[in-house]
Amino acid sequence: MLGTRRTTFLSFQPPAIGDEEIEAVTETLRSGWLTTGPRTAELERRFAEYVGAKHALAVTSGTAALHMALVALGVGPGDEVITTPITWPATANVIVHTGATPVFADVRESDLNIDPDEVARLVTPRTRAIVPVHLAGQPADLDPLWALGLPVVEDAAHAVESEYRGRKIGGLSAATCFSLYATKNVAAGEGGVITTNDDDVARAVDDHRIMRRGHGSLYDIAVPGYKANLSDVLASIALCQMDKLEHHREVRMRHVAAYDAAVAELDGIDPLARDPRDLHALHLFVVRIDAERAGATRDEYQRAMADEQIGTSIHFLPVHRLTAYRDRYPDQPPLPVAERAGDEILSLPLSPAHSPGDIDDAIAALRRVHAGFTGS
Ligand SMILES: Cc1ncc(COP(=O)(O)O)c(C=O)c1O
Repeated sequence: MLGTRRTTFLSFQPPAIGDEEIEAVTETLRSGWLTTGPRTAELERRFAEYVGAKHALAVTSGTAALHMALVALGVGPGDEVITTPITWPATANVIVHTGATPVFADVRESDLNIDPDEVARLVTPRTRAIVPVHLAGQPADLDPLWALGLPVVEDAAHAVESEYRGRKIGGLSAATCFSLYATKNVAAGEGGVITTNDDDVARAVDDHRIMRRGHGSLYDIAVPGYKANLSDVLASIALCQMDKLEHHREVRMRHVAAYDAAVAELDGIDPLARDPRDLHALHLFVVRIDAERAGATRDEYQRAMADEQIGTSIHFLPVHRLTAYRDRYPDQPPLPVAERAGDEILSLPLSPAHSPGDIDDAIAALRRVHAGFTGS
């Protein structure tokens, strides 16, 4: 009934790369464009159209996208930027890189996205921007954040397909930042995209992401910029991945439906909430493990799943508890919801590269582990 252990290790999020990507890379290499060129321009055009934004600017990573967006908005020393602790550290790191101070607002119990009431409580005259994260693909609640009247930079690393109240994420805030990292819904290996409707933000990002030589050997620069432009080789992979978004979404939906049905039967293992008013990108399937009801801690579950040959991950440990942030900001107030969640969350394998059989294996392993810990 509970089946047997896999003989090979199931990766947590393998990339779904096929012959199309391989051919596109070969063609790009043959074209002679190794750096930013026509494929990057095409990706920017497609991305802007897909999310419904006036501008899309491709950069080297999601981290660079967030950094360039904050720089473009003029965030700098003396400013505060409010963000969530339940995110990849890059979201907070880029605030530090600008010279501003990250201020962490606690998250909501339901979906672990930033709590707008906490954000409102933390706004000061120094607050220069708010950076919510759409965790796992569930949009953060943007209306009450926009109502605060400050620029919002969305971290949409998990949210290429997401919609907030019927509107696609990407053309809604001052800037929206996507990641094209190897595990993401549009996976180029590395890369990022900033989308915006604001001409000034787009121009400032463009000025900072690459130093151009122009047409002659005489040149001048208006700002001491960075080097964060995307290469055509990676853009060509991202373009293929965009073609596959719809098909990959169907696969993700089947995987998530199988997980939903399975965890509904496992006491103490509960998925994060998905708001039916929004479209969830289904980038991650995150569960919370209540040690009392589930018979063991998250860490014990993660180890037991690894023994079952099933790769899992954690999205995310609270950033303000990591060494760099504890050292730099020792008076950080406790954030009880995020801190408890950080001990309980576990992400199960989810990729369009997984077969239904792979997901069945992950579910069977989770059932066995649960039965072992609960004695049921
Ligand atoms: C929520 C979040 N923000 C930002 C990033 C940074 O993106 P990148 O790895 O492309 O720099 C990631 C992931 O990798 C992420 O998961």
